[in-house]
Amino acid sequence: MSWYHHTGRGGQGKRDKFLESNDTPAVRTIDLRREYKTRGGSSLRGQKAGKNVVALDGVTLDIARGELFGLLGRNGAGKTTLIKILTTLLAPTSGRAFIDGMDVTREVTPVRQRIAMVSGGEQSGYGILTVREQLWMFAQFYGVASRVAHQRIDVLLAAVGMSDQANQKVYALSTGMRQRMNLCRALVSDPEILFFDEPTVGLDVEASRLVRDYVRRWMSENPRRTVLLTTHYMFEADELCDRVAVINHGQLVAQGTTNELKRSLQEHVRFQLELAEWAPAFVEQLRLEDGVMNAETQQRDGRTELRLALLREEMIVPTIATLNNAGGRVLTLKRIEPTLEEAFIRLVGDEAEAASEEASHGE
Ligand SMILES: Nc1ncnc2c1ncn2[C@@H]1O[C@H](COP(=O)(O)OP(=O)(O)OP(=O)(O)O)[C@@H](O)[C@H]1O
Ligand SMILES: [Mg+2]
Repeated sequence: MSWYHHTGRGGQGKRDKFLESNDTPAVRTIDLRREYKTRGGSSLRGQKAGKNVVALDGVTLDIARGELFGLLGRNGAGKTTLIKILTTLLAPTSGRAFIDGMDVTREVTPVRQRIAMVSGGEQSGYGILTVREQLWMFAQFYGVASRVAHQRIDVLLAAVGMSDQANQKVYALSTGMRQRMNLCRALVSDPEILFFDEPTVGLDVEASRLVRDYVRRWMSENPRRTVLLTTHYMFEADELCDRVAVINHGQLVAQGTTNELKRSLQEHVRFQLELAEWAPAFVEQLRLEDGVMNAETQQRDGRTELRLALLREEMIVPTIATLNNAGGRVLTLKRIEPTLEEAFIRLVGDEAEAASEEASHGE
């Protein structure tokens, strides 16, 4: 099953601005493949002794200038591997990858000048420096003028709620504070393309929100800025991303706007109704209607909640007529929108499924 065709569909909403431009994509990969050789002795899941692990299995992807792009996938799907290749930290086994039209394996220096990477949970930094010294030092690596650097550092620290920690030693930072500092570190060089591997993992609710707000603001300040982020939080992807791709076992299995993904994987249109009385007979009658795929009731606070799955949205009209004719009184009606999480699980299956799949492959 391939959902790859979602890419070319539609052309509505947020994505239009990208389709119209003929710009060189910020990120381009062509049939990218990466294998890891594992040494003997390991018999971890999917990593038989001495065998190759295929982390990326032919990834072809374009991310336009100005896009906030999300890469979603289960643990081990290949997300970090892709980011490492794009940030010149790892060589592909085959295939090619470009940043702003430049080959990541051949034009390492100019590529590095345009990008920055932050990864959640990383332990980088020089403990004996203060936060400000550390950030200032990074700015120097990138040749940012000292005065500009100090201004930027102030803005960034304020944006992530760390102004009070500016003079604290890095070793004394909590995990979340260190992560906020890492975000500042990535942005202090004013990169054009930002790679963000699980940016909010380990951050508290407020800090996560600050980071998301800041990333959005940072993007809106300059239309050429581009972000590729990975996350396991579907609401975060939904809230932030213009477009997402789902990667599974090293292959892209879907890409599109979050709405495209949700809708394309929705089998039925779901509604939730509240009825005044408890009447199981309604439900029996409804189930016989054309296009009613499922009808379930539940009693709640003296009322009846009815959940319907219909083949098409407009079928709600005859369904309500049936209910009325049977003497049912509808108090409220709402359509239940599919979530990104549901779409994701439909695409990649759940953990248990994956485990049994792997077990059967191993035979
Ligand atoms: N250095 C390595 N040596 C051997 N195998 C590796 C290495 N790094 C990653 N892998 C394997 O490559 C596959 C992809 O790993 P990767 O880290 O890219 O996944 P991921 O999508 O980032 O997962 P997560 O959500 O857990 O961060 C996994 O099977 C992993 O075990
Ligand atoms: Mg990872």
